[in-house]
Amino acid sequence: MTRNLQDRRILITGASSGIGKAMAHQLAPLGAKLVLAARSEDKLRAVANALPGGALVVVADITRESDRQNVLGRAVEHFGGLDVLINNAGIASWDHFANSTEEILRQIMEVNFFAPAELIRKAIPILTNGVEPAIVNVASMCGRRAMPAWSEYSASKYALCGLTEALRGELARFDIDILLMVPGLTTSEFSQHFLRSEGKAKIEYDKGMPPEAVAARIIRSLQQNKTESWIGSDTNWMLRVNRWFPRLVDWLIARRVRKLYEGA
Ligand SMILES: NC(=O)c1ccc[n+]([C@@H]2O[C@H](COP(=O)([O-])OP(=O)(O)OC[C@H]3O[C@@H](n4cnc5c(N)ncnc54)[C@H](OP(=O)(O)O)[C@@H]3O)[C@@H](O)[C@H]2O)c1
Repeated sequence: MTRNLQDRRILITGASSGIGKAMAHQLAPLGAKLVLAARSEDKLRAVANALPGGALVVVADITRESDRQNVLGRAVEHFGGLDVLINNAGIASWDHFANSTEEILRQIMEVNFFAPAELIRKAIPILTNGVEPAIVNVASMCGRRAMPAWSEYSASKYALCGLTEALRGELARFDIDILLMVPGLTTSEFSQHFLRSEGKAKIEYDKGMPPEAVAARIIRSLQQNKTESWIGSDTNWMLRVNRWFPRLVDWLIARRVRKLYEGA
């Protein structure tokens, strides 16, 4: 199947920066009709104003039920329906679980798991009437191999991966495709939004992928209807090694953590 994105009505959450913003910039020239959602109105408007043909901007905190309802309602009101829901908004925290808080765990689960899950539930009847409808869930390499100092984040992305797999079968009867994106390190504004940033390992942001490259892969996967996409060489390397030698990866990671936290 090749999905033509011309005139497709596409909702992107987290469209005010990073990968979401890059997707908006690449989808607009393909003729997609875009609904951009995030909390930062100024940033969203700047993205929409720079797009050929503009976009519908809906300011929304996706953790709020009323905002989720509003974003879907506005999309239907403006475009008469919805063909693709891209659950891209996400946050993270970078520190060891023992140092973190229940509030951080709950906040990350709200944004990265409960919000996309409930958006999907509400969007199903709308997408059922869409053209070649699809849901795209942007997870992370941490959703397929959990990492220390990314404990809350890994748990939230594992949950999103699990939901995606379960729904693949359920949504088949509505002819809604559900696609999973598994990117590795990306040089977006993600780290500026961390809820905690006390992890000890050095994150090599200069080795991350540009958000534009990740966005291009996500859009290609949507066009090709690819069920699961591992994005980036670090993701491909790590997930392949982990598939065959998970205990070795555990051992290497534990050795590194002991070294980093020696005497702490
Ligand atoms: N960067 C990486 O290394 C990396 C790697 C793998 C996967 N990912 C995933 O890729 C996705 C996009 O991340 P990014 O790298 O582009 O990060 P980013 O630049 O920080 O963008 C995150 C987006 O999410 C939005 N957002 C956060 N909380 C929200 C809320 N409560 N309601 C509505 N929108 C909210 C932000 O907008 P507002 O602040 O305006 O609300 C922003 O537009 C995330 O799901 C992330 O987990 C990132």
